[in-house]
Amino acid sequence: MAVLTAQNISSNLKTKVFGKKVYFFEEVGSTNEVAFELARNGAVHGTIVLAETQTKGRGRMGRRWVSPSGANIYLSLVLRPNIEAKAAPLITFIASIALTDAAKTVGVEAGIKWPNDLLVNGKKLAGVLTELESDGDKVKYAVMGIGVNLNLTREMLDRELGDIAADATSVREALGREVDRVDFTANLINELERRYEEYLVLGFKHVIKEWNERCSMMGKKVEVIAEGKSLIGTAQSVDSMGRLLIRRKDGVVERVIAGDIVLV
Ligand code: BTN
Repeated sequence: MAVLTAQNISSNLKTKVFGKKVYFFEEVGSTNEVAFELARNGAVHGTIVLAETQTKGRGRMGRRWVSPSGANIYLSLVLRPNIEAKAAPLITFIASIALTDAAKTVGVEAGIKWPNDLLVNGKKLAGVLTELESDGDKVKYAVMGIGVNLNLTREMLDRELGDIAADATSVREALGREVDRVDFTANLINELERRYEEYLVLGFKHVIKEWNERCSMMGKKVEVIAEGKSLIGTAQSVDSMGRLLIRRKDGVVERVIAGDIVLV
């Protein structure tokens, strides 16, 4: 198995733009934080930041992303998209689609849980956190942060993730074998560029269609907890802004911007 370094990643890329500059750190607070700082200082579109471990890995909704060393992927990608800030959730969709592609390449069939979780057998394999800096209504730059549980064994998951271990899984657990981290990471970056280019040519409509096809929750009865309120209904689809459409029992369709979703 190849060692995770910037050089090893770069030599496995088939991209035109993404990963032309790759930064690798043994330890950072958060790769998103580092990528943000680089973007603020002019880092080009497609810059990649990787780390072996994060001491302050960030998850959605202010949560922590536990980031043990030696087995996982912590990746942030600097993007300079020409979009409005309100369309930014759709960037996350590109990441989720690319993640399902990368997982499939090693033989793992993963589904997407709105808005950004990759699930296998109902357990979380990967997550995406997109953060942005905007200038008025427009996005100045965005950082797409991806965390993948790759080669953690069940014992490691239990030890490292504590309370949330039962809801988490890894590529290794799903496959019953280790995968090469360099190959997986390079392939993920290749897929990210392919999907991003597809978006540039075909637009977000295409991204949403692909995303809806991979979402494991559509048509199912779900509960969404958003802003402390609970909403129960059937997940319908996501709309052109990435909002989740939930049809309530009384037929009213609600659009949810952010929240946590569970099958009921
Ligand atoms: C989630 O809550 O599901 C999103 C998790 C995103 C974690 C990744 S790991 C790389 C990048 N750096 C961070 O601090 N967070 C993201």
